[in-house]
Amino acid sequence: MMLHDAAAEWLGGYVDSFRGRNGALSPLMEVKRTHSLRVRDNAAKIAEGLGWTGDRLDVALAAALLHDTGRFPQYARWGTYYDGVSADHGELGEATLRELFPANLSDQCPEWEDILLSVRLHNKKDLPLDVPRRALPLARLVRDSDKLDVFSLVRSHVEAGRINDLLPGIAPRGGYSDELVEEVATDGRGSYRNVRSLFDFLLVQLSWVLDLNYPPSFRMLREEGVLAWIERTLPSCDRVDDFVSSVLRHASAMESA
Ligand SMILES: [Fe+2]
Repeated sequence: MMLHDAAAEWLGGYVDSFRGRNGALSPLMEVKRTHSLRVRDNAAKIAEGLGWTGDRLDVALAAALLHDTGRFPQYARWGTYYDGVSADHGELGEATLRELFPANLSDQCPEWEDILLSVRLHNKKDLPLDVPRRALPLARLVRDSDKLDVFSLVRSHVEAGRINDLLPGIAPRGGYSDELVEEVATDGRGSYRNVRSLFDFLLVQLSWVLDLNYPPSFRMLREEGVLAWIERTLPSCDRVDDFVSSVLRHASAMESA
């Protein structure tokens, strides 16, 4: 059996352990369950674009599917997805997999440690410089696949007028915070601690585009119309407009890189 199939079976059972007596999963856990499946599908598309096949593809799909394992115990224990007030869900995911993923399956997979590392690192602002060379392509693939789905999740929640279901802490209608605009205008990066409004969040998301790794990821972003949507949604202001255009230029250059 391929590792990805085994991982799908294991994750399904693990998620089932959080269902209530009536068989229902809490709606926010259901969001993470379907997110995991879509991140796996994104990984399949990116990997295909990169020409990955066989075991390499199998490992990529397993890592992408398992990347948010930590979300389930995190929500069960703390009732929130904010890592800052609960636990780092990348680390929690790794620890959960080390404890609960069947050893007879992981023992047969030479890349298992790379998968665990990709899970641990998927949510870090940057990949640390000491990631082993052989794990780097996988860690990058998981990060791209995850970001792509968060772009569409945020968009669909905004369009449905339900962004606070996804991001309870932000003001759906506030303007930009000065600190964040300053941050993205000066170093092209935005940090969550300066995010107050939806527009702030979209600016941080735009800065993620600068961290995407693979040409197929940029292509998928364009095909889904995500960047065009963010550009339409963000109110115009000089410093923001410059940042938006630089991101769009980067995205189209990287797509054919
Ligand atoms: Fe995550």
